[in-house]
Amino acid sequence: MAEVIDGKAFAEGLRERIAVASTAFTAAAGRPAGLAVVLVGEDPASQVYVRNKGKQTVACGMASFEHKLPADTTEADLLALIAQLNTDPAVDGILVQLPLPAHLNEQTVIAAINPDKDVDGFHVVNVGRLATGMPGFVPCTPLGCVMLLRDRLGSLAGMEAVVIGRSNIVGKPMAQLLLAESCTVTVAHSRTHDLPAVVSRADIVVAAVGRPEMVKGAWLKPGATVIDVGINRVPAAEPGKTRLVGDVDYASASTVAGAITPVPGGVGPMTIAVLLRNTLVAAHRNAG
Ligand code: GUN
Repeated sequence: MAEVIDGKAFAEGLRERIAVASTAFTAAAGRPAGLAVVLVGEDPASQVYVRNKGKQTVACGMASFEHKLPADTTEADLLALIAQLNTDPAVDGILVQLPLPAHLNEQTVIAAINPDKDVDGFHVVNVGRLATGMPGFVPCTPLGCVMLLRDRLGSLAGMEAVVIGRSNIVGKPMAQLLLAESCTVTVAHSRTHDLPAVVSRADIVVAAVGRPEMVKGAWLKPGATVIDVGINRVPAAEPGKTRLVGDVDYASASTVAGAITPVPGGVGPMTIAVLLRNTLVAAHRNAG
């Protein structure tokens, strides 16, 4: 049976180290590191994420500034708020929760964030910095995946890595990070021919497609390390109830893989921990 990669415990350890470093920053700078989170509208999942971000930011000794705007907020009003946060010296990191309501253009909004406060790493300047190996901000979820992989495997150099999914938030930055770790990287997606054959080559599989339990154990190379980024809510056996599953069929995959992240408790808890890390890095750059 595969070893279970405990992302929850890893994220707790990371948050403890960030809290120590955050206290030291506050003492040296005379102010805490600050993270501003902007939520437009009332998407229930986004509300849960934003609440957890606020709680964990404060628990790490940082300042949390939450801006909750109505669903019918105009682009001009949202851009005006971002302009104000860009120049606010108490704000080191700015995160605009996605998805935005349909009338707001996500690319326009992200482009308005000061790249040196873009702790999500979504601004084209940070995307370009990652692609060219310059220091910048890296999207939180893929960076958290690489931390788990490095913790388990040490050097990733020369390994075959298959990323399933090509989103701007996970798949593409994940591929860039694995390339920077000297993996041989394949990005598979919905149009890939013979996905099982592609996956069977991989020493490292990162699944980020948003399809419940799509990746089967029979596809895997025995001993592969499997990182499951999916969070899918599906009907449970009990009528009216739901349960969370990943993009990987855990029951079959865990009999073939060498190590695997569970859902929940794998990659999920890493995202906010890395966000707090990025915010502290931003604070040091802004204060220095
Ligand atoms: N929505 C889902 N994941 C994320 C994330 O990492 N950052 C932001 N801003 N929105 C998200």
